[in-house]
Amino acid sequence: MADQQAQLSWREERIPVSDQFDDPYFSIQDGLAETEHVFLAGNDLPARFAPGFHIAELGFGTGLNMLATWRAWEDSGQRTALRFTSFEAFPMAPADMAKALAAFPDIAPWADRFLAQWQGIGTCDLGTLKLQVVAGDARVSLPDWTGAADAWFLDGFSPAKNPELWQPDLLQAVANHTKPGGSASTYTAAGFVRRGLEAAGFAVKRTSGFGRKRHMTTAVRAEATLK
Ligand SMILES: C[S@@+](CC[C@H](N)C(=O)[O-])C[C@H]1O[C@@H](n2cnc3c(N)ncnc32)[C@H](O)[C@@H]1O
Repeated sequence: MADQQAQLSWREERIPVSDQFDDPYFSIQDGLAETEHVFLAGNDLPARFAPGFHIAELGFGTGLNMLATWRAWEDSGQRTALRFTSFEAFPMAPADMAKALAAFPDIAPWADRFLAQWQGIGTCDLGTLKLQVVAGDARVSLPDWTGAADAWFLDGFSPAKNPELWQPDLLQAVANHTKPGGSASTYTAAGFVRRGLEAAGFAVKRTSGFGRKRHMTTAVRAEATLK
């Protein structure tokens, strides 16, 4: 399933919906506020930002999570580069990203800087952001990744429609690529996702969800045992 581009339809001409997964890329209510609640606050960001901070993500999609995070990074006064690595099997065409991101004028300055350089996949150095989007099925590409993240954004389509992105083996690979004391969050509170994160070694919490979703999930990997 690697090397295929995202096939989309548009809801109300502004919300991209995946034809492959029959699911929207972000919240119909307010995608940016959901990103800030689930992925930033869910990983205790921006409070944990520090030089060298590395975020990893399952599902790059429109780049909305990345842009909201990059804005928070710059607004928090960080001057070094945030590292952001995302795993994406169906990259979105930059023109579709631009159309989707136009719904969020608050992040337009960051979207414009990003879209001026973005080639659709690979790496991009934007000064205060070093982005890498790894092409292909994360079940294959993540186990081969040599990096480790301080925080993970688990943002596949809904577990019912995209179950392969929430399987225990992949959540174990996420844990294996998380720094000690690192974290993960996701908008879903599905029991099998929580159990998968627990089995992978995370301490898992169910917390208040965004909008109509009552609950979401946050997870922390224990610090390495000191000897
Ligand atoms: C909800 S969207 C992500 C939204 C994105 N984080 C944003 O800010 O716009 C889910 C993404 O997961 C990707 N995806 C689905 N299955 C995948 C897989 N097996 N490996 C990697 N990416 C996958 C989809 O193509 C889609 O871009």
